[in-house]
Amino acid sequence: MDDKRLAAEEAVKYVKNGMTVGLGSGSTVDFMLHALGKRVQEGLQIQGIPSSKKTEKLAAELGIPLVDFSVTTHIDLAIDGADEIDPSLNLIKGGGGSLVREKVVDACADELIIIADSSKVVSALGRFPLPIEVLTFGFEVTAQYIKNLGGDPVLRRKDGEIFISDNGNYILDCSFGQIDDAAALHGKLVTLVGVVETGIFADMADKVIVARSGEIELFQKKQE
Ligand code: A5P
Repeated sequence: MDDKRLAAEEAVKYVKNGMTVGLGSGSTVDFMLHALGKRVQEGLQIQGIPSSKKTEKLAAELGIPLVDFSVTTHIDLAIDGADEIDPSLNLIKGGGGSLVREKVVDACADELIIIADSSKVVSALGRFPLPIEVLTFGFEVTAQYIKNLGGDPVLRRKDGEIFISDNGNYILDCSFGQIDDAAALHGKLVTLVGVVETGIFADMADKVIVARSGEIELFQKKQE
C-alpha cells in the first residue's frame, strides 16, 4: 500500500463519534478523506471543517458533513499533511498553497495529527523552499523585505499562470538554506508588511504519523 495512504488510514482511527474534525489539504489528506468518508458511511457521526476549497469539494463528494467557523470555533482533532517535519515536530507546509487556512484550522484544534510518508522527515527544515502567502498589492516590496532577511523569494506559478491562493493572494517560495530556529524565522517574517502567513508551523503538531515502507512510526510532542 502507498505509504501516504497507510499514514492517512492510521490517523482516521483517532476520530471518534461527535468530533468536529479539521480537514487539512494535500494528497495525503485526500487519502484520509476517503478513509473518513468510509467510516461516515458506516455510521460515524462527525462534522468536518475543511482547510481548502479542494478539500471542501472532495469531502462533500465523499458524504462528510461539513460546517464552517460560523457554526463552531472549536475543533477536537485536525489531521493535516506536511512538506517537511523536523525532529522537534516543527513543520514546513504550503506546498499545495493552502497554508493560511490550514494554519487557522490546525491552530484552533485541541489536537493536531500530521500524516506523511517518510520522504517528509528531515534532520533540519529548509530543503523545501518555505511558502509565504503575501498580498498581491506590492508583492515586489514584500519580496524585497524577505530578501533582506536572507530569503530567495520566487513567485509561485502553476501551469504557466501565477498561482492564486484560496484567499486571493500570491505565494512566494523562499529558500533560506537550513532553518535552525523555525519559530524565530516565522516571527520575523510574519511582521513584514504584505506577509499574510508563513508555512512554518512551529510547535503545533501533537502527533506525527509517518509511514515508512509499509510500517507506521508515531512521533509525539514532548510534554513540557
Ligand atoms: C498544502 O498546502 C500543504 O500544506 C500540504 O499539507 C503539504 O504540501 C503536503 O502535501 P502532500 O500530502 O500532497 O504531500
